[in-house]
Amino acid sequence: MSFQEGDFVLIVAGDRKYLRRLTKDFSLNFKDKLLKLEHVLGKSAGQEVNGFCLLKPTLEDLILLGFERKTQIVYPKDSFYVAFKLGLSSQSRLLEFGVGSGASTAVFSSLAGEVWAYEVRQDFCKLAKKNWDKFGLCQNVRLENVDFKEAQVEEDFFDCAFVDVKDPAPYMEKVWRALKSGATFASLMPTANQVAQLLKVMEPLFCAVEVLEVLHRGYKANPERLRPQDTMVAHTGYLVFARKRT
Ligand SMILES: C[S@@+](CC[C@H](N)C(=O)[O-])C[C@H]1O[C@@H](n2cnc3c(N)ncnc32)[C@H](O)[C@@H]1O
Repeated sequence: MSFQEGDFVLIVAGDRKYLRRLTKDFSLNFKDKLLKLEHVLGKSAGQEVNGFCLLKPTLEDLILLGFERKTQIVYPKDSFYVAFKLGLSSQSRLLEFGVGSGASTAVFSSLAGEVWAYEVRQDFCKLAKKNWDKFGLCQNVRLENVDFKEAQVEEDFFDCAFVDVKDPAPYMEKVWRALKSGATFASLMPTANQVAQLLKVMEPLFCAVEVLEVLHRGYKANPERLRPQDTMVAHTGYLVFARKRT
């Protein structure tokens, strides 16, 4: 693969990463070094030019560096683990509500067959679409601008569900009805109170309930002084997983 005008490129310079589109006026300065469009066109991913390493961005790069955010997003450290726990595959039909900026949907869509996504706010629907369209993502997502309470969803229809709203508890009966027997369920909540509320309503409807957090501790990748970075993100959200019981 060689870079062409219009492509997105991930540029690594020292310990910085930049996600840029190769437009006619593209240029990047880093510590007195200059990278221009003609330096990048026709180069292959992985090539180093003037001290800049040129890479094809991964989905994680697109989400973390390229998505416009107006809501809290589900960070890839959580969404990729959720995808694994949901058992997503090209055969899966996923129900998701709480689309926000579209970050978690982008991860799930890359693995699932279909994603049926519901978002109550029109401005967030537009934002999510804008983020997806910018990078050609989420072609298998049916996005509806509706409160999940009002959404028309078939019963016994979905293989899995992910819920990212402030208080998921009131929706759980409807989610349960929409899922196939034995289907996987996941939700992310920032506070423990919300988790406790959710557990109470899930008790008669779901089995194999798990609650956990995904903690990442980055290291300074220096072989002579290998040690953790000085700061870390201590909390993003609690994750609740379960299976539909009938
Ligand atoms: C934290 S954001 C979701 C972030 C998103 N998962 C991401 O990774 O970008 C929560 C979203 O849930 C939406 N929401 C809240 N209640 C809802 C409901 N009943 N039905 C659909 N969407 C809802 C909010 O408008 C908000 O956009």
